[in-house]
Amino acid sequence: MKRIADHDRNRESEDQFCRRTGGHIFYRRSHAVIIAYPSEKVIRTLSLISLSSDDIIPSDKESFMKYRTLGNTNLNASVIALGTWGLGGGSVWEDTDLSSADNLLSAAADCGINYIDTAPVYGMGRSEELLGRALRGKRDKFLLQTKCSLNWRREDGIFKYARDGYTVNNNTEKDAILRDVEESLSRMQTDYIDVLIVHYVNSSWPAEETVAGLEDLVREGKIRAYGISNSQPADLDAYAAHGNPALVQEQYSLLAPSHGESYFPACTKHHATFQVYGALEEGYLTGPNHLYRSYKPGDIRARLPWNTEPYQSGLKKLYDEVWTPLTEKYHCSYANLFEAWTLRQYDNLSLLIGSRHPETILDTARCLDLELDPEDLKLLLETAEPVQVKELDK
Ligand SMILES: NC(=O)c1ccc[n+]([C@@H]2O[C@H](COP(=O)([O-])OP(=O)(O)OC[C@H]3O[C@@H](n4cnc5c(N)ncnc54)[C@H](OP(=O)(O)O)[C@@H]3O)[C@@H](O)[C@H]2O)c1
Repeated sequence: MKRIADHDRNRESEDQFCRRTGGHIFYRRSHAVIIAYPSEKVIRTLSLISLSSDDIIPSDKESFMKYRTLGNTNLNASVIALGTWGLGGGSVWEDTDLSSADNLLSAAADCGINYIDTAPVYGMGRSEELLGRALRGKRDKFLLQTKCSLNWRREDGIFKYARDGYTVNNNTEKDAILRDVEESLSRMQTDYIDVLIVHYVNSSWPAEETVAGLEDLVREGKIRAYGISNSQPADLDAYAAHGNPALVQEQYSLLAPSHGESYFPACTKHHATFQVYGALEEGYLTGPNHLYRSYKPGDIRARLPWNTEPYQSGLKKLYDEVWTPLTEKYHCSYANLFEAWTLRQYDNLSLLIGSRHPETILDTARCLDLELDPEDLKLLLETAEPVQVKELDK
């Protein structure tokens, strides 16, 4: 990649620099300006801290995004993964003003995101179907992750919940998982799944049998890796005793950090990636405008504790007194503030963020460039205590 001309802040503003080199300012941070060069299809970071030309780091979208190997696999996944629960629509996300799956995948690809998460129950098959269609002709450009165990089509398994007129049961028996995979492959019009996650681990069902099914699927080439979700560290121990789980996908956020904190040592022990879901708590951490919204009873966001007092007032106070000043200090969005905080909590972390709009994907990608000062990381955690909850069941 060709290096751009030296920039000397004593002589030239960033705007003059952009005009001279043919770029435009993509966005600003306290310590850097990201400059886009559309004609060359690259994005470059111009450090504002030091003045030497070595601080001008050429960066295309692949070096703009960060990648990490998932667990003990050879799958190189973008640190940010795109969650597509909302793509399924239904009553859980009532404001279903969705962008098309094509637009979401294009926005993801534009920022170097190659890792997509879905599940059969997201919209009762709809999220998988829409993704499958959008992935035609570009399946090999993405790591596709879906789930198994929760189903709404059969009577077998343990009752989990009722939604949109369907009864959803959980079944982690080997035969159930094999059937789930066949149905997902067909809905997504693909012959392999990169990562399969057991959606709700059933701790009373022998892990050995479930893992035997997952390992069979790996041998047959129908999946490339597997992991578990909504589980406990003891479940990871049990799965790892019989196979090679690559990751756990668990709820974790500044507002509910305790499950993750208790899980990190188990991930380190088994070299498993810790994949976060809910880092933005379904929108409650995306800005003060999100508070005091009214949701229909079936909307998943209505039943989160932050929709009630005293949590609502506690969040409002934090937005006013801590979070807004921090976004001003770092010139960042609220989402980026909490995403950057999350990324700093564990090394081997995958940040799964749900988006239904290209704009939110593009904004999220910017969090990788945000380095929060240690005292601000500490401040965020210490001041959040009054609005934190210990357990969440999503
Ligand atoms: N294993 C499980 O049981 C489980 C449970 C829950 C979720 N998940 C997975 O994890 C993914 C993420 O979880 P989630 O969707 O519940 O919650 P989330 O990622 O905490 O929050 C998603 C919400 O944040 C908004 N958002 C995202 N980036 C934003 C940005 N940069 N600026 C402003 N708003 C932004 C989204 O907006 P828009 O939608 O309007 O774009 C959406 O409303 C899901 O999609 C799903 O794939 C798994």
